[in-house]
Amino acid sequence: MIRIGIIIGSTRPGRKAEAVAKWVYEIAEKRTDAEFEIVDIKDFNLPLLDEPMSPMMGRYTHQHTRDWSAKIASFDAFVFVTPEYNHATSGALKNAIDFLYHEWVNKAAGFVAYGAASGTRAVENLRLIMGELQVADVRAQVGLSLFTDFENFSVFKPVPNHEKSVNAMLDQVIAWGGALKTLREKQK
Ligand SMILES: Cc1cc2nc3c(=O)[nH]c(=O)nc-3n(C[C@H](O)[C@H](O)[C@H](O)COP(=O)(O)O)c2cc1C
Repeated sequence: MIRIGIIIGSTRPGRKAEAVAKWVYEIAEKRTDAEFEIVDIKDFNLPLLDEPMSPMMGRYTHQHTRDWSAKIASFDAFVFVTPEYNHATSGALKNAIDFLYHEWVNKAAGFVAYGAASGTRAVENLRLIMGELQVADVRAQVGLSLFTDFENFSVFKPVPNHEKSVNAMLDQVIAWGGALKTLREKQK
């Protein structure tokens, strides 16, 4: 069974990302075709990238990088829960992604985004990044609107049909995640 990390893509005090990630996890854990874990970037206390060598070298000098590396290496696929900041993903998520390289390669990813325009531009931004990291990002995505899925733009109250979208996205992440796990095992 493949392991999927649901990554909380905001570290901001008062962030919406945590409630959204928990909701994704509650939907995901009803499934029996993959294992899921919430990964909170905040727990790793990552500073702005402070490794002297390129992550492609995999020669990490800091314990926070080694901890983050071990966590991401333990998954076969990811669901990125991302806000939209200035038509892109958050700086915190981009920085956390930049810390590593091989830990992402030949894995699958899906997106759950939120914002005034349902976080669409944050997902487009992440798709470009995924290309460089050799991550197979799936087509199905979940877009949550600040207008209709958050009461008073703050309390997360998703409209019910989004649960179906989460499962459609997970179907694709699990299919691609499984196929790429087989590929990685062949390459060993
Ligand atoms: C620096 C910053 C830039 C933002 N830029 C956008 C934007 O370009 N488009 C958008 O829809 N919302 C934008 N927002 C609103 C965020 O989507 C909203 O505040 C959301 O709650 C942020 O996610 P978080 O609470 O999980 O950190 C921005 C918010 C911040 C703090």
